[in-house]
Amino acid sequence: MKILTLETTCDETAAAVVTDDLQVLGSVVASQEQLHRQFAGVVPEIAARAHVQRILPVIEETLRRAQVNSADLDAVAVAYTPGLVGSLLVGLSAAKALALVWEKPLVGVNHLHAHIYACRIAAGRDIFPCVGLIVSGGHSSVYHCRTAGDFVYLGGTIDDAAGEAFDKVASMLGLSYPGGPSISKAAAEGDPAAYRFPRSFLKDKSRLEFSFSGLKTAVRYEIAGPGRPDFSAVNLSEQRIGDIAASFQEAVVDCLVVKAMQAVETTGLRTLCVGGGVAANGRLRERLAEETAAAGVELQIAPMALCTDNAVMGAIAFERLKAGDVDDLTLDVRPGLVRPATLEFHSDARE
Ligand code: KG4
Ligand code: ZN
Repeated sequence: MKILTLETTCDETAAAVVTDDLQVLGSVVASQEQLHRQFAGVVPEIAARAHVQRILPVIEETLRRAQVNSADLDAVAVAYTPGLVGSLLVGLSAAKALALVWEKPLVGVNHLHAHIYACRIAAGRDIFPCVGLIVSGGHSSVYHCRTAGDFVYLGGTIDDAAGEAFDKVASMLGLSYPGGPSISKAAAEGDPAAYRFPRSFLKDKSRLEFSFSGLKTAVRYEIAGPGRPDFSAVNLSEQRIGDIAASFQEAVVDCLVVKAMQAVETTGLRTLCVGGGVAANGRLRERLAEETAAAGVELQIAPMALCTDNAVMGAIAFERLKAGDVDDLTLDVRPGLVRPATLEFHSDARE
């Protein structure tokens, strides 16, 4: 079986053709980094408009590279949750149109589950049940992943996502967007022990939570002190940028590693899977490898090409497709992970 998968949850327009034995026949990712760079973060309206312009050329190029046409495909899969509403709508609308015209089943993909599925693709064998750490620009959460589609939330950030913290600190340091790769690069020249930045909840075993806002503020004060500084006017030496970047990265990595291992300990699971853009961070990969090896826990980290957003991880759709569990054209985007109970509460309140 072969499927076309689409991914437009944030600022990457991506498509892939994958087979049910998880071979990638074609994959294209059109990044919007250039468009958002001047704003040091993703501007949702710009992202949505760029997806509209790019989605069809990206699909056409993917089919060309995979050397398949619609007749060869068994379904169209698309990430429909979570993400930016305008971005999600473009991918879902395209997927619905193709499914309708090509008369193929439509399969909705949960983008977070897909980030962990990147580990499944790389492992080449089953990885479930496992602890899943998802660290990206929009999410920092830990799950008990029972199966590919059954994730139980164990804990996560109470404010910024890890990638978001990287992006914001990079901006304060005058480094380019996206912040993760720029901070890693600067950190390689710096001393991770130069500054002792805060690590929220690190020793509090009762909380499986992350908080990066205090860390961000500590970095901000280190750079410019309280008040309303114009960061572009702050003159930092290369050495200081490197030291701050390395010390900040070390603090984030400490929190992620300690809490991931805490989840492994409390669940008793023996496999830790890590996905999302921040999983590309070299220092995080190194520390996770050390800690899991010491604890005798199996570690699966998404390969570098599948850490940041891509459509290959949409191969998770096969898990549902093979079980005959498909969607129809009423499938709608779900930007946030809103629990039905919350919705019921709102409708009650209005009555
Ligand atoms: O998974 P992703 O592509 O998009 C979301 O679903 O959010 O993650 C993007 C995030 C950005 O915040 C980016 O700064 C971060 O991943 N990132 C990194 C690295 N590469 C990308 N963070 C730390 N170190 C990296 N090497
Ligand atoms: Zn993502």
